[in-house]
Amino acid sequence: MNYKDFFNQSIQNPEEFWRLQAKDIEWNVFPSTILSKDENNYDSWYADGKLNISYLAIDKHINDGFGNQTAIIYDSPVTNTKQFISFLQLKDEVSKLAGAMLALGLKKGDTVIVYMPMVPQAVYAMLACARIGVIHSVVFGGFAPHELAIRIDDCQPKLIITASNGIEIQTQIPYKPLVDRAVDEATHKPQHVLVFDRKQGVEFEKKPYDLDYSELVSKATPAECVVVESTHPLYILYTSGTTGKPKGIIRDTGGYAVALKFSMKYIYGVEQGDTYWAASDVGWVVGHSYIVYAPLLNRNTTVLFEGKPIKTPDASTFWRVISEHNVKVMFTAPTAIRAIKKEDPEGEFMKQYDLSCLKYQFLAGERCDISTLHWLEEHLKVPVIDHFWQTESGWPMLANMAGVELMPIKPGSASLPVAGYNIQVLDHDGNQLPAGTEGFVVVKLPLPPGTLTNLWRNTPRFVAGYLERFNGYYFTGDGGFQDPDGYLFVTGRVDDIINVAGHRLSTAEMEEVVSAHPAVAECAVFGVNCDLKGQRPLALVVLKSGSNINPKVLEAELIEKIRDTIGPVASFKEALVVERLPKTRSGKILRKLLRNIADKVEYKVPSTIDDMAIVDEMIDLFKDRDLISMC
Ligand code: COA
Ligand code: AMP
Repeated sequence: MNYKDFFNQSIQNPEEFWRLQAKDIEWNVFPSTILSKDENNYDSWYADGKLNISYLAIDKHINDGFGNQTAIIYDSPVTNTKQFISFLQLKDEVSKLAGAMLALGLKKGDTVIVYMPMVPQAVYAMLACARIGVIHSVVFGGFAPHELAIRIDDCQPKLIITASNGIEIQTQIPYKPLVDRAVDEATHKPQHVLVFDRKQGVEFEKKPYDLDYSELVSKATPAECVVVESTHPLYILYTSGTTGKPKGIIRDTGGYAVALKFSMKYIYGVEQGDTYWAASDVGWVVGHSYIVYAPLLNRNTTVLFEGKPIKTPDASTFWRVISEHNVKVMFTAPTAIRAIKKEDPEGEFMKQYDLSCLKYQFLAGERCDISTLHWLEEHLKVPVIDHFWQTESGWPMLANMAGVELMPIKPGSASLPVAGYNIQVLDHDGNQLPAGTEGFVVVKLPLPPGTLTNLWRNTPRFVAGYLERFNGYYFTGDGGFQDPDGYLFVTGRVDDIINVAGHRLSTAEMEEVVSAHPAVAECAVFGVNCDLKGQRPLALVVLKSGSNINPKVLEAELIEKIRDTIGPVASFKEALVVERLPKTRSGKILRKLLRNIADKVEYKVPSTIDDMAIVDEMIDLFKDRDLISMC
C-alpha cells in the first residue's frame, strides 16, 4: 500500500474511508449514519451505531477462542512483581468490579474518578466503568489534592476509586490521604471512596465513605456489558489549558474504538497477538489509548509497567522489559530516553539484551531533539519514529504510518499527517503558508473519529479554544512548519502551556499559586529549556512594597506551595526575585521574551514594550546562569 494514496483517500472521501474502517470492529448496531452534525453543529461520527468497548476489549477475544492469551503483563520493578493476566482473568476481575459498582447504585451516564498508581486494578476500574456505561475520569497520581478537588467539582463523581499507595522509585506515596484532602476541599461529595489496599504497610485513616475494593469485588455478581450509543462518553480526561482551570476533554465510544483499532494496524504496524508496550501512565492520554484501549481492542498483550526508565533498578530496565516480554512495538517519551542516555551514554545495557523482537520504537509527548533520536537509532538499530498528538486528538495526528508504508525518517520532524488529519500551517489571518514558513498548526474540519467531541459541561470554552481562532479548522495550540515533502516540524506551543518531562502543564495555574503568596505583588511563570525534561518552570517574582522576606525563604515556600497545590509533577524548583517584569504598554507580561532571554536564543523585542531598559535588566539576570545544568 502507498501512504500518499491512502492519505488522499481519507481526505477526499472521509465518509467512505471511515465507513470501511468501522467494519473492522464489532458493533451491536452498525451505524447507518457515518458523519453528521451534533446538537452544537459539530461533526459527529457513527451517531446511530451501538456497541460496548469493554466487550470489544475483553469478551470478544474470549468468544473468538483467545481467553487464555495474556492480555496484560504487569511488570513492577518497584515491587518485584510480574503478573500475567489472561483475557479470561481480566473478564472475571472487570465484570465483578462492574457488578459491585451496579450494586452501589451506579448507572449509565454517572461519573467515576480513578486516582490510582500503575496497578492492574486501575485498568480493571476503567474497563468496569466502560462495561456498564459509566464515564470514567482518571486523574494522574502526581497531581496534588487541590487539582483532584477541581476535577471532583467539575465532573461530580458518585464514586472515587483509589489505592492505599503508589511507589515512586523507593518512596511510598500514600494516595488515600490525598483523596481525603481532595474530598474535604471539594464542594461536591462523592457517595463512596473505593480503596484498593496494596497491603504494603501503608496505614490510612478509615473514613465513613470508604469501601474496601477487594472485599466488595469478592462478593460481587459479575455484570454483563451494557450496549451504549456510539456517541456515549467513554471518559473525561482533564488537561491543562491556558487558564487556571483544566479542560475536561470528552471522548466518545464508537469513533474512538474505530480510530484506535485503525491506528494499531496502520500506524504501529502490529498484528493481533503481538506484545505492545507504551511506557506511560494510565493518568495520561497515552495510557488511556495505548496502555489500555488500543492494544486490548486489537487483541495485543499490553505491558503495564510500574517503574521509571532509570533507578528501577537502573538504566537497563526498558531493555529488560522489551527482551523478556517479546515487545514488538514500544512507545515512550524522548525525556525517558534522555534519562537513560545520561546514565548509560555508550548504550552498554542495551548490548546485554536480545532486542531482536523489537520492530519499531515510537516517541511522542514532546519535541524529540535530534541527538536523542540519533543515539537511539544507533543503539537500537530499528526505525525510531517521532510522532505527534494531544489529549484532544486521543491518537496520533502526525506519524510515519509504518503499517501502511514506512516513509523516510527526517530527524526533527514528527513525520507526516496521519490519514484522516488534513493538517495545514496558517498565518495570523488564516492564510495557508508555503513550505518552510512557520505558523499555526491546524487541522481542517472534520477531525477524524476518536478525537474530542466537546469539553465536559463547557461548550463555549470548546468552541472558543479550538474552533473560533480559524474558521473551519481545529487549532492545535502548536506552532510549526511543513517542508516541501509535507513533513511537519512542530516548534512548540504558541500559548502558555509548557511541557515538563512529557507532562503538559499550565503556567497560568502556577502563577495563580505563586501570586497568592502574601509577599508577592506580581509574577511570571514560564518554561525554560532543560536537557533532561525538555522544559521546566521558572518564576520571576516582584515583592509587595515593604516586604523584606529573604528570597531563598520565599523560593522554598513557593516550591512547597506548588508541590502541595498542583503536585510534584510540576517539577517547580526555582523562583527569582526581580524589581519588575517586562510588559507591553497595555500591561501584558512578555513571557515569550523572558523565555527567549533565559534560554539565550535569538529574539525580537516587541515594539509594544513599555520600557526598553528592562531588556538589559533581564539579560543581566540570566547572563551567568547555566539553566540547563540545573535540571
Ligand atoms: N504519583 C506520585 N508522584 C509522582 C508520580 C505519581 N504517579 N509521578 C511522578 N511523581 C513525582 C515524582 O516522584 C517526582 O517527585 P520528587 O520531586 O519528589 O522527586 C516528581 O513527581 C517529578 O516526577 P518525574 O517527572 O517522573 O521526574 P523524575 O525526576 O522522578 O524522573 C524521568 C525523570 C525523565 C525519568 C521521568 O520524568 C520519566 O520517566 N519521564 C517519562 C514521562 C513519560 O513517559 N511521559 C509520557 C507522557 S506520553
Ligand atoms: P498532551 O495533551 O499532554 O499529550 O500534550 C500535547 C502537546 O505535547 C502537544 O500540543 C505538543 O505541544 C506536545 N507534543 C506532543 N508530541 C509531540 C512531538 N512529537 N513533537 C513536538 N511536540 C509534541
